[in-house]
Amino acid sequence: MRILVIGSGGREHALLKGLAADPATTDLHVTPGNAGMAGLATIHADAGAVDDPAAMTALAQRIDAGLVVIGPEIPLVAGVADALRAAGIRVFGPNRDAAQIEGSKQFAKEVMAAAGVRTARAEQLQPGTGDAGVEAALDRFGPTWVVKDDGLAGGKGVVVTSDRAAAREHVDAVHALGNPVLLESFLDGPEISLFCLVDGETVVPLLPAQDHKRAYDNDEGPNTGGMGAYTPLPWLPAEGVQRIVDEVCVPVAKEMVRRGTPYSGLLYAGLAWGAEGPAVVEFNARFGDPETQPVLSLLKTPLAGLLDAVARGELASQPELEWEDGYALTVVLAAEGYPASPRKGVAITGSALGDAGKVLHAGTALGPTGDTESAGGRVLNILGKGATLEEARDTAYSILDGIELAGAFYRHDIALAAVEGRISLR
Ligand code: GLY
Repeated sequence: MRILVIGSGGREHALLKGLAADPATTDLHVTPGNAGMAGLATIHADAGAVDDPAAMTALAQRIDAGLVVIGPEIPLVAGVADALRAAGIRVFGPNRDAAQIEGSKQFAKEVMAAAGVRTARAEQLQPGTGDAGVEAALDRFGPTWVVKDDGLAGGKGVVVTSDRAAAREHVDAVHALGNPVLLESFLDGPEISLFCLVDGETVVPLLPAQDHKRAYDNDEGPNTGGMGAYTPLPWLPAEGVQRIVDEVCVPVAKEMVRRGTPYSGLLYAGLAWGAEGPAVVEFNARFGDPETQPVLSLLKTPLAGLLDAVARGELASQPELEWEDGYALTVVLAAEGYPASPRKGVAITGSALGDAGKVLHAGTALGPTGDTESAGGRVLNILGKGATLEEARDTAYSILDGIELAGAFYRHDIALAAVEGRISLR
C-alpha cells in the first residue's frame, strides 16, 4: 500500500515511523514534511498548502496513493478529507463537518450536552462584546479563568490563570484576531489524553497518555502545544480507560452518527479526572502532538493496516490491539523564544541527531549547506522507552545531552510527578 501522510511535525514523523514498520506499506510519501523524514518517505515540500483540498487531492492522485493519513487539524477543518473521499481515495481523518468537534468548541459543547458527557460550564463571547459584557462574564467565572480561542489554535490558544487581568488580556487578544472566546469553568484533577480510533459507533482506545502543556518546569510559563508526554499512566486504574470510553467517547461517537456527521479517524479526548470522574477539557480531531510519539512507539499492531481499516469502515472486525510492555516518554526540545517567537535557522548538531529510533524531528529544515537547522518552535522530540517510567526518563534525558541547539530549552520534569507518586485520583 502506498501511503501519503499530510503534515510536518513530530506527530507525522512518528506516524511515518509506525507506517514504515508495517509490511503492508510499500512506500511512503509526505507533504510538506521536515528534514528528518527523508530516510522514511519521499518528501513533497512544494505540493501546495496542506489545507488546499484540490492541491492535496492532486498530489494523492499523482502518486496514486492507496491511503492518505491527515496529521494536523487545519486540513481536516478545511475539508481535505471530503475532497479525497469524493475523488475515491481512502483517507484516515474525519470529514469537515465531523472535524468541527475540534474546529468549533461551541459545536463540541453542543455534542457533549446532547450526549450527556461531563464537561466544563462555558460561555461564548463574540468579538464586539462590550467592556461591561466581558467584565460581567468574567465575574461569572474564576477564581481560575480558562480563556480559549474558539477558532483553531492547535492547542496553543488557551490561557489558564488565576490573574483576572491576564484573563481579560487574552479575551481582548483573541477578539482582536476576530475570533470568538470561550470562557470555561476550571476542571480540577490530573489530565489525561485518550486517543480513540473511531469508525461510526465503533470506538477503540489507544494507551492513555499525559501531556505537559506549560513551557517550563513545575507547570510554569505560558501554554504551549505540549512540551513532553508519557504513556501509559501508572496512576490510572485499569478500568479507567474503559470508563472514559463508556462515559465519553462512545456517547460522542453515537451522537455524531445521530446528527448525520459520523466520525471516521482519530478522536482525541483531552480530559481532567475530578471528584466525579472524567470530564472533557477539549476534543481534537487528530492524533495529539507530542503524545502520539510515545503512544505509537509501544503499539505492536501494524499501523498501516489499522488506519486503513478505519478508512475502509472495517474497524469493528479488527483484532484487539497489541502493545509492548513498559513505558515510553518524549521530551520536546524547543527553540529559544518558544512559544511567543521561536528563533529559526539555528544549526542543530550532535551525535544523537541521527538516531532515527530515538530522535523524531518536528520543526527542522535543511539549511543552505545541507545541514539540519531549526524551522519551528518545537524542534525535536526525544523518545525514551523502558521497563519502568524512570528508565524511560533516563533514556530520553541522556539522549538530549548529545544534541546541541543554541538557546534551546526543554522541561526537566516530564513524567516526574508520576515517577514520584505525586498523582492520584480522588
Ligand atoms: N498535545 C496537545 C495537542 O495535540 O493538542
